[in-house]
Parts: sequence; C-alpha cells; structure tokens
Amino acid sequence: MAIVSSHQPPGDRPHRAQKKAKDHGASPKKQDTPLLSAQALPEDTPSRNEETIRPQSLGDYIGQRDLKDVLHIAIQAAQTRQECLDHLLLYGPPGLGKTTIALILAAEMGVNCKVASAPALERPRDIVGLLVNLQPGDILFIDEIHRLSRMTEELLYPAMEDFRIDITIGKHQSARSRSLSLNRFTLVGATTRAGALTSPLRDRFGLIQRLRFYEPEELSQIILRTAGILDTPITADAALEIARRSRGTPRIANRLLKRVRDYAAVKHNGEISVAIAEQALELFHVDPGGLDWTDRRLLTVMIETYQGGPVGVDALAAATGEDSQTIEEVYEPYLMQMGYVQRTPRGRMATPQAWHHLGYRPPDEQLPLLS
Ligand code: ADE
Repeated sequence: MAIVSSHQPPGDRPHRAQKKAKDHGASPKKQDTPLLSAQALPEDTPSRNEETIRPQSLGDYIGQRDLKDVLHIAIQAAQTRQECLDHLLLYGPPGLGKTTIALILAAEMGVNCKVASAPALERPRDIVGLLVNLQPGDILFIDEIHRLSRMTEELLYPAMEDFRIDITIGKHQSARSRSLSLNRFTLVGATTRAGALTSPLRDRFGLIQRLRFYEPEELSQIILRTAGILDTPITADAALEIARRSRGTPRIANRLLKRVRDYAAVKHNGEISVAIAEQALELFHVDPGGLDWTDRRLLTVMIETYQGGPVGVDALAAATGEDSQTIEEVYEPYLMQMGYVQRTPRGRMATPQAWHHLGYRPPDEQLPLLS
C-alpha cells in the first residue's frame, strides 16, 4: 500500500474535525480510484505538534540562505509565467528540513502537497494512482527517492518530462499499452544520498539543491521560535547551549528542547536557564560537542578495537550493532563535519580530535616506551 499524506494550501485546509478523519484514512473521494489504495496512515502523518512548529513560509524559515534565495527566484519566475515550479531534488543529511521545504513551496505556490516515501511506492500502481490524482501545479514530494523501485522510477521519467504515463492494460495477449496525460506538477525528491540516484532520474530535475548543517546561531533562533510556540520560557544562552549540542540539525534541536522542557517542568519551575539545560542534556547523554551515546560508541570502537582505523563501515556496524546504512547516512556526516572522522580509501579513521574528545591520547602523541 502506498503511504501518502496530503497537505492542502492554507486557504483550503480542512478544519480540525475534517483533518482528523483524513489523518485516519478517510481520504477524499477523488483518491478512491482503483489504481490507488492510498491512505494517510497515522505513523506517516506528522503529529499536530510537529505541524504547529514547522515554519509555514520561506519568511519564517531560518537558515539555508542560499537555498532560500534560489527558491525565491524559482517561485517568482514560475508565478510570473503562471507555470508550475521545475522539479526539485533536495539532498543532505536527515532532519535538515527537506519535507518542510516541500510543504512551504506548496503553500507559497497555493497548491496541494502530496507526501510519499519511496519504499512505500513499491508497485507501479501506487505511483500511477498518485500521479493521476494530482491537480494542476500540485507538488508531489517523494522522500528517500534513491530507494524507488526500477519499475516505479521508469514510470516517472515520462511523467516528469512530458506529463504523461505509459501504462499496460490487460494481461498476456490482450495486453495493450496506453498513454495517459497528467496535469502538470512539480516533483520534489528528497534523498540523503544524491550519489545513489540513477543519472536518468537525477538529470530530470531542473533544480538540485543541497541542505547544509545549520550554524549554532541559526539553531538557537529556531529553538527560541519553537519555545515561543510551545509557550516555554527560555534564556538566550540556554537556547544557544541546546543549539551547540544539536548536531547542526533542527529536528534534533527541537527534540532536545522538548526533553529539556520536560526536565525543567519536573525538576524546576519550568523555565529553562543555561544551568538547567546543561543538567538535562547531561542526563540525556548529549555531550558538550553534541555527540550522543551512539556517536561516542562508534568513536570508542574505532579507537579501542581498531587503534583509530582505518576500519570499514561493515566492520564498524558489526562491532557496534548499528546498521551500516544508518552509520553512513545518520552518524558519519556529522562526525565528519566536526572533524572527528575521516574517510580514506582504506576505511574510516578517527582523527586526533576524536581521540582527545574522548579523553585518549592519539598514537603520534604517545611517549615511546623505554626499553
Ligand atoms: N523548525 C524546524 N526547522 C526550522 C527552520 N529552518 N526555521 C524555523 N523553524 C524551524
């Protein structure tokens, strides 16, 4: 079953009662086609909380200045020409705001956004059902687009290029091929691994944009904004302290803010000061450099078991019990950004900074043993 959720432009958003029904699978009539059994499943639908803290316009969106500049121009040009936006590929580590950008683009263009994840579009009919239901100008957001099945990907090529799909009706000798025309739409693809996309798919995106890690000052502004929405008093230096430990990632910043807010409410009077933020983050094992338990475990295994490396990602996965793809896509990018891990042709190496951060002395700085 295709997992999809639908976001409408602000003007026609359903009120809360309607939305609740929709979130639980009572999709609007136009989706009830035999081609698609798509439902907005609860686990796929962002919680109300997440929806309220998401910025709703480019003006509200903090950080990613270059990307915002590019999108402003694309939106203005498309609106002036009364066309839809070019297909857009967003890549970068998880949690940096790829889904948020797609939702904002839809809001700015005044169109619907259908959100789907590539692993859920396994069968050709899943993507066909999504495509034929798009209204003119709609945005189709496909997360983890590097994981599309080959057949689904091949259906997307003419859809992206000529706004048509070629489908086969019937079986065996009575099988006939038909071309269906689609409304013009914008595909926004998101991936943590741009290099894993096939070149025919990558080449069909008019805009390819990378999201970068956020600076602590940007994250601090995001934390202050979220705290305001959540009605949580917080000092500017506490926000900066949480920001510094958020691995350059808004999703982590907002998650840590909520944990610190719980701690402040239970142990203190609810206000977040820098001292309270530090105590809470220590309790949650987030160190002053933003490394969590798994980051430190990865570095510790590299240092203690492999003398700092080089070590292959599969060996590291086996030694730590983590999945190798998670290491590559979630943990490594930040450890590399911080200068704690280096990728070499022979494997990963822990840098001298990583040794120091964990309280070890790197081999070149160790005194020779006296014989
Ligand atoms: N919440 C999460 N990401 C954000 C961003 N980039 N700007 C404002 N609020 C956010």
